[in-house]
Amino acid sequence: MRKLKIGFSALLMLILVGMFATFASAEEVYKLPSNVGTVDNSGNTNTHKTHGNFQNNTNSCANCHSTHNGEDEMLLMRSGEKELCMSCHDGTMGFYDVTKASEAGVIDSHEMSASMHDVDSDLAVKAAPGALKNTSTATFECSSCHNPHGSANDRLLKETVAGKTYANTYKVTIVGYAETIEKTPLAVGNKAIKLNLIEDNSTPELQAINNSATLSGLKIYKSNGIYNAATADVTKEKMYDYKLNYSEFCAACHDDYLKNRENGPRDAKTADGHDLYTHTTSSTKAGRSCTACHFAHGTDINLLRDTAGKTIADLQKPVDQGGKDWTEDQAKAYMKEVSDKGSSLKRFTNMAVCWACHQSTHQIANTPGTTNYPNTTDYKNYLVPGGDYSGKSLIK
Ligand code: HEC
Ligand code: HEC
Ligand code: HEC
Ligand code: HEC
Ligand code: HEC
Ligand code: HEC
Repeated sequence: MRKLKIGFSALLMLILVGMFATFASAEEVYKLPSNVGTVDNSGNTNTHKTHGNFQNNTNSCANCHSTHNGEDEMLLMRSGEKELCMSCHDGTMGFYDVTKASEAGVIDSHEMSASMHDVDSDLAVKAAPGALKNTSTATFECSSCHNPHGSANDRLLKETVAGKTYANTYKVTIVGYAETIEKTPLAVGNKAIKLNLIEDNSTPELQAINNSATLSGLKIYKSNGIYNAATADVTKEKMYDYKLNYSEFCAACHDDYLKNRENGPRDAKTADGHDLYTHTTSSTKAGRSCTACHFAHGTDINLLRDTAGKTIADLQKPVDQGGKDWTEDQAKAYMKEVSDKGSSLKRFTNMAVCWACHQSTHQIANTPGTTNYPNTTDYKNYLVPGGDYSGKSLIK
């Protein structure tokens, strides 16, 4: 397999030479694949996107498929799929570089405390921790989560994951702290996951792409992840749908980890028959959906945050800029993941995410009856002492 992969890489390199059209200036180079269609179905000049809305005179299937020399039943080399995606998403294009930090996290990092969805192994989809009903023996790949041919969902997120069509419409009733959620399958043609995407106009070259009249409306977006509040773009009801569906998306594979407050113990039991419980992970409230605590791709020491929401870069800044004036080594030693299980794609280091919340709302108090908490009702005066928990404001 490995040997074949190298062969495929070499072939791909040959294809890649000449595949890209340099879009803009020499300084900052943005490249779009050039062998896509140039005339749309109405005869107008229009270059279609790489993923989806393919047009008549397209040659872009060849970006990923080989008609006669494919290496697997999909006419591409299956175990080489990651290499295929990375041939464009490794920074080559100047945007959507998944090896750089984004709202999806990071892929292929070799930094301290790195952990990521391993799409480079031959693991089965059912190897996901918490997979109970997910028995999919398909190989876990980029296309386990993304549909390279296009999707109604943002970021090409698949509508059927691990054989499960997860999308729903939710009726959410909130009375005081109680939240009741009823779900019904999403009507066909509706979007299950809409992310808070903002046009990335950070450079003149990106502006040129975003304003082009001949790129079939291609836009390059920066993601801000899930919507956590109603905005001009989404109503509260839609926001609930998108947020809850995002947890359902993760849980299509990690099904046993999905729980809302009302459902009580989860499905699994320990060997001796005890119920197993899990923190609420499917709620419209902050901090209780998967990507509130996890990245989708992966994490590392540069992305992890402490309870104050600081990264190692923040901590190395001078004190008058909100930092601690620490050396890189000091900051890394402080931030590193200590769990044997590793950093589990987390946004916050260790269990800082828990602490950030449980010191501000739903606080943890000292043990009643001790001098630190003499059985009064005003337990808020007797909270476990600690530091700066302002990182809570970052939890969606
Ligand atoms: C960006 C890469 C990419 C492009 C462009 C692309 N494909 Fe695919 N295609 C894939 C991958 C990856 C798979 C395997 C998906 C899987 O394993 O689920 C696939 C699978 C397929 C399949 C079989 C599975 C299915 O979804 O039905 C067909 C048929 C197919 N592609 C046709 C096309 C055609 C026709 C075009 C051009 C109009 C095209 N593809 C363009 C990456 C691509
Ligand atoms: C030939 C280059 C190329 C290859 C190969 C490629 N991509 Fe892309 N990808 C692009 C371009 C260009 C865009 C910008 C949107 C577009 O053109 O569809 C993009 C956008 C994306 C996006 C963001 C979509 C959006 O509009 O928000 C995702 C997710 C993505 N690609 C995943 C993949 C995956 C997964 C694979 C492998 C199966 C893959 N890409 C292979 C060129 C490529
Ligand atoms: C298509 C199936 C699939 C989907 C969807 C999926 N995962 Fe996973 N996940 C896996 C598999 C398989 C593993 C085990 C292999 C690995 O660690 O990459 C895993 C592992 C993990 C791990 C443990 C990683 C470690 O280092 O131990 C975390 C955390 C995780 N997933 C979170 C998520 C979150 C959050 C989402 C949604 C954004 C998600 N997963 C969506 C299949 C999936
Ligand atoms: C476990 C599911 C999963 C796997 C596996 C996965 N992705 Fe993603 N990817 C996501 C999700 C979810 C997002 C959207 C994150 C957000 O913005 O909230 C995303 C976002 C992206 C983006 C947009 C990044 C940006 O700049 O905002 C690209 C490009 C992409 N993925 C490519 C890939 C490639 C290439 C692979 C394989 C090497 C891959 N993905 C594997 C779930 C996955
Ligand atoms: C409140 C924060 C929080 C939320 C919400 C959350 N997680 Fe986690 N998750 C964690 C922490 C912390 C760990 C590492 C410690 C542990 O395993 O308990 C973890 C670990 C994991 C692991 C690795 C477990 C292992 O056995 O290796 C997976 C997989 C995972 N989470 C998936 C999910 C999925 C899927 C969801 C949504 C359905 C989710 N998480 C929601 C905080 C969270
Ligand atoms: C965004 C805030 C937030 C985060 C982050 C958070 N919690 Fe919670 N937690 C709550 C709230 C609020 C409740 C009350 C029940 C509910 O609404 O889900 C709760 C309930 C609990 C409970 C009581 C059991 C229950 O369901 O009532 C425990 C134990 C707990 N959390 C531990 C943790 C741990 C461990 C983590 C880190 C993995 C964590 N919490 C992260 C807000 C949070």
